[in-house]
Amino acid sequence: MSKYDFDKTHDRRGTSSLKYDFGMERRRREDLLPLWVADMDFKLPQEILDDIKTRVDHGIFGYTDPKPDYKAAVRSWYSERHGFEIEDDWLIVVPGVVYAIAVAIRAFTKSGESVIIQEPVYYPFRETIELNRRKVINNQLVYKNGKYEIDFEDFEKKIVENDVKLFLLCSPQNPTGRVWTREELVKLGDICLKHNVVVFADEIHSDFIYKGHKHIPYMTLGDKYKDNLILGTSPSKTFNIAGLQVANIIIPNADIRNRFDFENGAGGYSQCNVLGLAATKSCYEKGNEWVDELVEYLEGNLDYIRNFLKEKLPLIKLIEPEGTYLIWLDFSGITNDYRDLRKLIEDEAKLWLDGGVIFGRETALFERINIAAPRSIIEQAFNQLYDAVIARQNSNV
Ligand SMILES: Cc1ncc(COP(=O)(O)O)c(C=O)c1O
Repeated sequence: MSKYDFDKTHDRRGTSSLKYDFGMERRRREDLLPLWVADMDFKLPQEILDDIKTRVDHGIFGYTDPKPDYKAAVRSWYSERHGFEIEDDWLIVVPGVVYAIAVAIRAFTKSGESVIIQEPVYYPFRETIELNRRKVINNQLVYKNGKYEIDFEDFEKKIVENDVKLFLLCSPQNPTGRVWTREELVKLGDICLKHNVVVFADEIHSDFIYKGHKHIPYMTLGDKYKDNLILGTSPSKTFNIAGLQVANIIIPNADIRNRFDFENGAGGYSQCNVLGLAATKSCYEKGNEWVDELVEYLEGNLDYIRNFLKEKLPLIKLIEPEGTYLIWLDFSGITNDYRDLRKLIEDEAKLWLDGGVIFGRETALFERINIAAPRSIIEQAFNQLYDAVIARQNSNV
């Protein structure tokens, strides 16, 4: 018996929600069903809302910093669920993981220097490097037999040729859903150690892992890897509290931490969001069961989608996700023109998805779909897609 009701729908329109309320501002339309940005349509459980309310009711929201009880909550989440220990002074609280990526780029590279990424990947990786006037080096992931793999030879070659200083690792991987194995991570880690490349491991999706797979935290690879690491974590995906602006950045090595900290201060950031801290502490203390049930619910959404595609839309190929609540669909069986694909998705199916083109040039015929929504919304989205594809087929005959 489940304790929490993930089937319940909530009206989010009119709350300044990026996902629901910005169709016009983002040059789309108001009538699209949004399954784009990684933002879930589930309400937090009452026990966590009560803790946030208690803090709100205090009524004073001055400058606030994390105390040991906050750090203990973060520590126990990662110790109990992920099997690694964090020392209190390794932890730096910032407003977001992307913010931390920007800080790391400025701390570990100079203008014009190179940062390596693996596309298709969460598009702010590329954007943040470019906005900071650094050079993007891409080690393209290889799509082979329905699965994404790493070209290690190309990774090392590009690091050497471009004197790369920083690697942005996405683990688990958005948008392909890969959960990297220990062997893959060690290979990447060894190459980075050999060529003095600092690793920023973005593990924001690590609480969403499907049956049969295991997330390997970079922190558990061994001391030498841990000593070359900036670990990006956050409760913002797991509990959908991105609007509360908290990310916990964990840096075991003192030199790396000091360089990061200096750049963080240089950007003018110091104290944290008071409600973000209260929410994070409560989520990590009381959210275990909710997250367990949530992942099971997402697994159900995934089963529904897998069956639906197999039975009704076999030309659309699901890249089987091992983790994350984002699925990656290959539409090359439907069209070979990405503008035509956008037309199908937006004008005909009336869906707002993230088109593959924003994750890198080679994936223009893919779409990323956020499946963290009540089942009825997922059903509606896939029925709209089905109707649009069938209408096309009928008009072509
Ligand atoms: C891989 C990855 N990193 C970072 C973020 C965003 O993190 P934040 O809101 O803390 O900047 C996302 C959001 O979707 C993501 O998918």
